[in-house]
Amino acid sequence: GEISNYEEKSKVAQRVSRFVKDGDVIGVGSGSTSFLAVKAIAERVRQEELDVLMIPTSHEALLNCSTLGLKTTSLAAKRPDWAFDGADEVDSNKRLIKGRGGAMFAEKLVMASAPKTYILVDESKFVSRLGEKFAVPMEVDPRAVHLVETKLNNLQTVEVQLRMAKSKDGPVVTEAGNLILDARFQEITAGMEKEFSAIPGVIETGLFIGYSVEILTI
Ligand code: A5P
Repeated sequence: GEISNYEEKSKVAQRVSRFVKDGDVIGVGSGSTSFLAVKAIAERVRQEELDVLMIPTSHEALLNCSTLGLKTTSLAAKRPDWAFDGADEVDSNKRLIKGRGGAMFAEKLVMASAPKTYILVDESKFVSRLGEKFAVPMEVDPRAVHLVETKLNNLQTVEVQLRMAKSKDGPVVTEAGNLILDARFQEITAGMEKEFSAIPGVIETGLFIGYSVEILTI
């Protein structure tokens, strides 16, 4: 029978915890699957008295690590030996959409710094066409919102929306003090990640194309 997303995520989390070796510096993604992985890793570290250092990609990831007793450091101090993270969509070419949690800037910095990143996903994340379910999030300097909207509207963008907060009035503000535009396209092509990054004011996008990732499922 069907197993739940939670069970799937827990199993993938268990799998990635097996890769931890004594002395590792590990990049930590955000989201519920990454949280389960942090839990599984904390358990192994405790039982086997391993010495590992985590590099969190958000306040959320930092708190998860600290609460579970894992030591943390930063990209400014260390290079990750490897990393793990979740994703919102994965296609058959290992291209990703990330950023539902708004942390894609730090997530991309860690992914680009790590020789390898395990992408922890359940069945629901696989799509035949990138952008099928999720918009492409873009972290934008608040002063550039209208500029970026205008540029995107010239690029056969179907819809651009400023992401609004659910728990307060006004827009979502990222950890770096920026805003998020969610953009939908007819089709996502390989050059788009670079094309978007070239727009002044775009800090980072949630398109992850061509990174050294291994997709991990149950
Ligand atoms: C964070 O910005 C996102 O990219 C997450 O990696 C993504 O939303 C996955 O979350 P879940 O593991 O909760 O599905």
